[in-house]
Amino acid sequence: HAQPRPHRMSWSFAGPFGMYDPAQLQRGFKVFKEVCAACHSANYLYFRNLAQEGGPHFTEAQAKQVASEYQITDGPNDAGDMFQRPGRLSDHWPAPFPNDNAARAANGGALPPDFSVLAKARSYHVGFPGFITDAFIQYQEHGVDYIHALLTGYEDAPAGVHLQPGLNYNVYFPGHQIAMPKPLSDGQVDYTDGSPQTVDQYSQDVAAFMMWVAEPHLDQRKRIGFQVMIFLIVLGGLLYFTKKKVWSNVA
Ligand code: HEM
Repeated sequence: HAQPRPHRMSWSFAGPFGMYDPAQLQRGFKVFKEVCAACHSANYLYFRNLAQEGGPHFTEAQAKQVASEYQITDGPNDAGDMFQRPGRLSDHWPAPFPNDNAARAANGGALPPDFSVLAKARSYHVGFPGFITDAFIQYQEHGVDYIHALLTGYEDAPAGVHLQPGLNYNVYFPGHQIAMPKPLSDGQVDYTDGSPQTVDQYSQDVAAFMMWVAEPHLDQRKRIGFQVMIFLIVLGGLLYFTKKKVWSNVA
């Protein structure tokens, strides 16, 4: 059973001028919060990041509201005890399990990877002739293409395939047997902006959200890069004419 290549999706943040779509990141966050966060941590995501420009760009009040829905373990206090308090903007996203062993125990021995840089984690498993493209043309969306493919790639195991106990068949997962059960189904997450409530749409939105979690400054970097290019073009023109003027008397 060969490893198919994920479809290349069209992402708002692709290409030199591509930017995140805040509405999509807000939907992706909702999918993460209501579905994925039950098993996956996101230790480098802080509640304050949710209000950031170039991200989901919630209002600060909304980000505070989300934070306050979670109980955070803090301490020790003066008596030397740990205690629970509502989350604040300065807290990171609370992990669903106290540690990796507890996470493995709850997931049949498999560890749900942290979301922080997961969008960057897995490149394609490629076969001829794709490897030629992949070897020479790197593009930053392969991780999100893979995540979308993975989330939409659950199927019944084909006849003759023996599934290991507790594993699920997925067309795009290397080896095809994944510990993560199919996390999404149509209509599972309520969208308020009229976007389709389908596995396909959820998968694109949560993948885009994961890309932002891994690359929170992508928009800013592209904007600065563009300004630098404009500056260099203007500077190049000035240097050219200066050179002509300075050397105009030399025979
Ligand atoms: C692995 C995404 C929900 C448990 C993964 C991987 C991704 C991912 C990208 C890595 C796959 C790879 O290694 O190539 C998501 C997303 C979710 C979600 C976007 C929400 C839509 C869940 C839920 C659970 C879970 C709800 C628990 C019931 C796991 C486990 C693994 C995993 C155990 C490790 C799989 C293995 O190594 O076999 N997930 N996940 N995930 N996820 Fe999720």
